[in-house]
Amino acid sequence: MTHPGGLYDTIGLGYTNHRLPDPRIAAQIWASVGLADRILNVGAGTGSYEDSHRTMVAVEPSAVMIGQRPTGSGPAIRAHAECLPFPTGTFDVALALMTVHHWSDLELGLAEMRRVARRQVVFTFDPAVHDALWIFQDYVPAIIGMADAVPLDAVVGALQADRVEIVPVPADCTDGFILAYWNRPELFLEPSIRASTSGFARLEAALVDSGMARLAEDLASGEWHRRHGDLMARKSLDAGLRLVVAG
Ligand SMILES: C[S@@+](CC[C@H](N)C(=O)[O-])C[C@H]1O[C@@H](n2cnc3c(N)ncnc32)[C@H](O)[C@@H]1O
Repeated sequence: MTHPGGLYDTIGLGYTNHRLPDPRIAAQIWASVGLADRILNVGAGTGSYEDSHRTMVAVEPSAVMIGQRPTGSGPAIRAHAECLPFPTGTFDVALALMTVHHWSDLELGLAEMRRVARRQVVFTFDPAVHDALWIFQDYVPAIIGMADAVPLDAVVGALQADRVEIVPVPADCTDGFILAYWNRPELFLEPSIRASTSGFARLEAALVDSGMARLAEDLASGEWHRRHGDLMARKSLDAGLRLVVAG
């Protein structure tokens, strides 16, 4: 059955257990937002990365995600990016963080962000870099090229963006998206960690199980460390995260 709040009404429960905003990523996002005050957060989810000291309004389709927003966070309106319920020019900045790959109409959603806000900041990933990571290449290739991956050029073009920044993923990243665990392979073996990422949550269970069985074997035999152990010395990695800044 399709749910009005979409995928996150099904997989969103427990999102805040493993998806704690990472302070270094937050600092980079907020440096791009600058001193703006009237801020819209589109696809806001549970309110990760929002700043309680600024005037924030959230748009989010999933009631399950809205229900996990902390007390005292700004107003959350149940709506979709593709039809933002605000007059033209209402906001200084519109944010879209880790959400554009879920939208049913990317161009319409980004056009709506341009209509309601003077500037736009989109936190997303470059599929070309993302797909090269070992977890996809070696263990869950079915996630590669999933239908909803958004080409970076499409976001940059639609927003007529001024710049694209690499967002390095720290070695101890606290926000548990799939790319966060590039140096912590054993964490992928925990079902609750996988369940907090839409990439795994949507994959057929048999494909996940066989991939995780191979990962467990490679960790036990030392094969994973032979192939990827050099990653352990790094403090951060460009795993494909990008900040697209316009206006
Ligand atoms: C991975 S979560 C990210 C949530 C939050 N921005 C964060 O960074 O933690 C993706 C969010 O996008 C929302 N979403 C899905 N389709 C959407 C749409 N068409 N318009 C706006 N938000 C949407 C989902 O309900 C979910 O809360």
